[in-house]
Amino acid sequence: MVVHEFVAPGSRVVIQTATWRDLPALRHLEKVCFPKDAWPLLDLIGVLTFPNILRLKAVHGDHMVGFIACDLRPAEDLAWIATIGVLPPYRRQGIGRALLNAAEQALSVRWVRLNVRLGNAAAIHLYEEMGYQRAGLWPAYYSDGEDALIMEKRL
Ligand SMILES: CC(C)(COP(=O)(O)OP(=O)(O)OC[C@H]1O[C@@H](n2cnc3c(N)ncnc32)[C@H](O)[C@@H]1OP(=O)(O)O)[C@@H](O)C(=O)NCCC(=O)NCCS
Repeated sequence: MVVHEFVAPGSRVVIQTATWRDLPALRHLEKVCFPKDAWPLLDLIGVLTFPNILRLKAVHGDHMVGFIACDLRPAEDLAWIATIGVLPPYRRQGIGRALLNAAEQALSVRWVRLNVRLGNAAAIHLYEEMGYQRAGLWPAYYSDGEDALIMEKRL
């Protein structure tokens, strides 16, 4: 199902619901996007199959070039952005923003939250541009000791 469609500079990209068939592409994307924190295979299978997860992919031609997953917590009126990534050759073309936009539109909760490495300027810029605000810090959250910045947005 096409959720959203837009034209990045020189290319047509569609945003669709991801399925378990996307596992090989997601595995590749995770390794490339998160060299320090790539999820193990079981987590990737989970994110593509478990209930209460919104999973969207950005597709160029036949290839997944971006992915976002949100963990839905309706009892807390909250969704948590579990992961978002775009393959390097496709960055700075609006695909990350489009994925985030499509996810927000598909959510029916009041709050969206996420954690991001404090040094991840690209992602923090994207979130700030999309209206996310700094909401806290988890010291030494990541395995290499880097702090996590918590950001949130009221939809
Ligand atoms: C973060 C990420 C998903 C952004 O994807 P993207 O498709 O390049 O983002 P967009 O092109 O939609 O960028 C939207 C805005 O975000 C900001 N932004 C994105 N990349 C940036 C960078 N490298 N430096 C500064 N600002 C940046 C800009 O404001 C940009 O708008 P502009 O291009 O008009 O200036 C991508 O860099 C990525 O996959 N990084 C590795 C994985 C990761 O860190 N994920 C986040 C984990 S919390």
